[in-house]
Amino acid sequence: MYTPKTASPLMLAVCALTSILFLWWFTGQAREIHATYDSISQQLEAQSTSVSTATVSNAAIHIPTWSLFQDGNIWSLTSKHRQLDTDHVPNLVAAPVAHTAGDIQIAKQIVPQLTGLFKAAATDGTPLMISSAYRSPNDQQEIYDFYLRAYGQQYVNSYVALPGTSEHQTGLAVDIASYSNDCAASANNCSLDYNAIRWLQKNATRFGFIQRYPTGKQSITGVASEAWHYRHVGVPLATFLFETGLTLDEFVEQAAPGYAQ
Ligand code: DAL
Ligand code: ZN
Repeated sequence: MYTPKTASPLMLAVCALTSILFLWWFTGQAREIHATYDSISQQLEAQSTSVSTATVSNAAIHIPTWSLFQDGNIWSLTSKHRQLDTDHVPNLVAAPVAHTAGDIQIAKQIVPQLTGLFKAAATDGTPLMISSAYRSPNDQQEIYDFYLRAYGQQYVNSYVALPGTSEHQTGLAVDIASYSNDCAASANNCSLDYNAIRWLQKNATRFGFIQRYPTGKQSITGVASEAWHYRHVGVPLATFLFETGLTLDEFVEQAAPGYAQ
């Protein structure tokens, strides 16, 4: 017959110690996240002349100026639900990085951070290149038509924005690949290897970039997971989104309700 055993004093001691260790770890994590929120708010406040405050994901976020949300600025949202003007053209410069697939332009305002990101990656033995950045609505239409013919409607619905709804038109987004001669020759041969994916996930935040279309968020972003597409939003917001796991769409909806439509 089965007789239930009573817990030995050793087992009880092990359980108690495990619980204490878990509580210690958990409260440490909570303190760290709280400190991050405080530091983000302070950084945002320091940038500001007029401050609004929004509660996003239970944290008070100071918004330096609402103009940050306007098209062309680093917190602007471009998505299936929020279109850019067809004639919106950012202030563009040639991408100042060592490796690109052809002539690549980016918004001038992200030059220092993009340069820093690519230099840091190369120093860490993970050389990167840009396979695509600014695209005009015409460029986007060509890409859309190409992928529609090649892979069909379901594919483009998941991976290719219609002209006017692509972040590439802002010049604030870059498609990143691991550096290779094949990729330099043709964007069709570009890919991001596992080490580079991991490096970017760990380091992009400190240069103000976010992985704009993360895995599991397609119902919110409208785009399937893209490990290669990074968007500049500035260090404070990138840090906040990294810590909270929110997408840019969710942040904007909470910080400026109605804006994302
Ligand atoms: N691949 C992204 C969604 C774009 O086409 O802008
Ligand atoms: Zn992209």
